[in-house]
Amino acid sequence: KNIIVAIDGYSSCGKSTLAKALAKKLHYIYVDSGAMYRAVALYFLRNNIDTHDHAQIEDALKNIHLNFHSRDYETHITLNGEEVSEEIRMMPVSEKVSEVSALKEVRREMVKQQQRMGESKNIVMDGRDIGTAVFPDAPIKIFMTADPAVRAQRRYDEIHHKNPDLTLEDIFENIAHRDYQDTTREESPLIRAKDALILDNTNLTPDEQLHFALDKVEK
Ligand code: C5P
Repeated sequence: KNIIVAIDGYSSCGKSTLAKALAKKLHYIYVDSGAMYRAVALYFLRNNIDTHDHAQIEDALKNIHLNFHSRDYETHITLNGEEVSEEIRMMPVSEKVSEVSALKEVRREMVKQQQRMGESKNIVMDGRDIGTAVFPDAPIKIFMTADPAVRAQRRYDEIHHKNPDLTLEDIFENIAHRDYQDTTREESPLIRAKDALILDNTNLTPDEQLHFALDKVEK
């Protein structure tokens, strides 16, 4: 049977860095589930979808076609054929995504697509509900946390060259806001699966994190 590694945790905890490194090492497929919610949020923004209107939401979901094509373990995602990998990392999407991802209809559809991706291949998937809702039977689950100030600084270092007007404060607020929404929403909120191993990486290098994860996989 194929193997699933589920990595969940708060925003900007380094989930994707670890997931990518692990996938590369194990020759598994890497799936960034957050990119899917981000692409849906981008569609909602562009098309002014009213998140209180169920018919509009259902309709939008029918019109959204997402596709992953991984090149060198980087996430490349298309929304209806258009490459949106960069745009989904920008602030407007980051500010909208938690609202959109809290919608039942959206989650139901994304979870279905994610489960399909894990049907026959070995994958590492990162997100918020992978070990709880998407793959509750995954043999390896990791729950990542890190100090919020450290997370904000890391995200700032990663994106400020592309968004020079962004301050560390803006990023800190966005992270805090998403954590709040993600942990308090009704539909599969972000929580640690009972059988997930906690990885607090505040003081760990990427290499140390990779070794922690590899050690679990090999057992
Ligand atoms: O992982 P990333 O920070 O890119 O995810 C963006 C947002 O997508 C999260 O803040 C969360 O609201 C949503 N998300 C989710 N479930 C997942 C992955 C992401 O609700 N499995």
